[in-house]
Amino acid sequence: LEYGIVPESLYESVIDHLRVNFPDEPLNASVGLCVHGKPCPLLEAHDLKTMQDGMSVMAMDKKSGKIAGVALNGISKRGECEKAVEEIRSVDNVQYRRIFGLLNDVNLELDLFSKYDVDRIFEIRILSVDAGFRGKGIAKELFAQSETVAKQNGFKIMKTDATSLFTQKVAESQGFHVEKSINYHDYKDENGRRIYDTQPPHLHYKVMAKLI
Ligand code: ACO
Repeated sequence: LEYGIVPESLYESVIDHLRVNFPDEPLNASVGLCVHGKPCPLLEAHDLKTMQDGMSVMAMDKKSGKIAGVALNGISKRGECEKAVEEIRSVDNVQYRRIFGLLNDVNLELDLFSKYDVDRIFEIRILSVDAGFRGKGIAKELFAQSETVAKQNGFKIMKTDATSLFTQKVAESQGFHVEKSINYHDYKDENGRRIYDTQPPHLHYKVMAKLI
């Protein structure tokens, strides 16, 4: 495998990879925002915007030319979360609001910018490994490569919204600590039904961070 920064020429191939492989993400699977193999315009706009920060990394299988995995990394700036909370009110897709509403609310309350006195944070936003390449340590290596990029760009802190237990294990193995842990099943609608019916072993969403 060859690791490197995702070049602009491969943005569309990364989106194709994500269409097939990212719908397994537990929060998405629980609310049904994206379906395997189908375009998912709202999430893909978020993916493209993140790749345009130029700090995303990929693992490419040299033999087949297939994308084995990606970490889409973006710059989060102080004040953006407040704006995102406002903007999401005008999004009429309920699944998108459920996912990003939760992430935005938790991050707004946590306010890592004030806690660590920084104006920008290196954020691992989307982590995805091709189903045929999972369990081989590719996600761990994508985290390690992302840290190198973060350091080269002068960041003091990295963070990730780890919605999957597997990402939590990867992050922990790379020296991240838990800033906040949320139990998905604590969120209920007015009829007492679970809003995020995530399947075991994915019972928590953890905001995880590392000072670098
Ligand atoms: N069963 C049990 N444990 C697992 C499994 C599995 N199927 N897959 C990974 N793990 C755990 C292992 O503990 C492993 O650590 P260990 O080998 O030291 O025990 C750890 O996760 C890391 O394993 P990797 O091989 O590095 O992970 P992989 O390359 O398979 O990628 C990923 C993990 C990215 C989560 C992959 O399963 C995936 O693409 N899932 C669908 C999308 C998704 O959920 N993405 C993460 C959402 S959070 C975010 O994007 C920031």
